[in-house]
Amino acid sequence: MEKVILDVDTGIDDALAILLAAESKQLDILGVTAVNGNVPIDTVVTNTKKVLQLFDNMNTIPVYKGAHQPILRSTHYAFHVHGEDGLGGALQDMEVAKNEDMYAPDFIIEQARKHKGELTLIMVGPLTNLALAVQKEPRLSDWVKKVVVMGGLVSEGGKGNTLPTSEFNIYADAEAAKMVFHSGLRIQLVSLDVTLKAFLTKERIEQLKGTKYYEFVMQSTEIYREMARKKFDLEGCALHDPLTVGVVIDPTLVETETYYVDVETKGEISYGQTVCDFRNLLGKEPNVEICLDVDHKRFIDLFIETLRVNENK
Ligand code: BDR
Ligand code: CA
Repeated sequence: MEKVILDVDTGIDDALAILLAAESKQLDILGVTAVNGNVPIDTVVTNTKKVLQLFDNMNTIPVYKGAHQPILRSTHYAFHVHGEDGLGGALQDMEVAKNEDMYAPDFIIEQARKHKGELTLIMVGPLTNLALAVQKEPRLSDWVKKVVVMGGLVSEGGKGNTLPTSEFNIYADAEAAKMVFHSGLRIQLVSLDVTLKAFLTKERIEQLKGTKYYEFVMQSTEIYREMARKKFDLEGCALHDPLTVGVVIDPTLVETETYYVDVETKGEISYGQTVCDFRNLLGKEPNVEICLDVDHKRFIDLFIETLRVNENK
């Protein structure tokens, strides 16, 4: 089984990503690290613990609290997408146990040292925790097998979700993303170019009826689907973070190529843009494997089938 750490800013689609990872039974989840992002860090920790408890009441997957703010900029939350509580009002009454004491970037370093060449990091929030880890331990780039990042957009310029050029996770801490992209880590970028094709409709959610996840998925995604309807005239919600987990479970879901990608941190209207040098105009070494296309139908099938494992429970 692939050893992974999930770094999350839970978040509705983060929650669905956690459930997909845990239910797939194909990933050895060493821990989940929380980062400030969609909602403030303490809410992220609580939400993450709730979702893991929904998966397994005896939850044995540890949760580590990480960065409470971006490296340089002030915080930028996404309450309008995920609701004030980050879970669209779902699981409100669930009590949670305490999280682990270790700081998330230290946990990442510890596990990378322990499992050299074997650990995949699945990053579905702003990259602050990983930037802090790399700054503290530069050998991380030799130790970590791969980093799969949900973030940015490369060929669909103008179709960002935070600025026309920029995607939320990169925008929320572009300095951190820049540090990570220049760290020498092997990075795969699962960007909006493909995640916006991985759409979960209400009809597909109905297929979860009879499982313990039906109510949660239907309730939590309501505000998310409503936002997509109003803002983008789309029916359903994009599974950004679950697709990123899906790519680790089954890499053949996406077509990829490797290019030089950098992050804009100074632009007035393009802060957080991921700039891909398709024509190698800058003459730099390729550093990021980007996703050009996705078999979205096969991915949504995988998502639904994986969560249906719990039918009648
Ligand atoms: C990303 O931003 C967050 O709001 C989602 O959880 C996802 O990780 C999509 O741009
Ligand atoms: Ca996220």
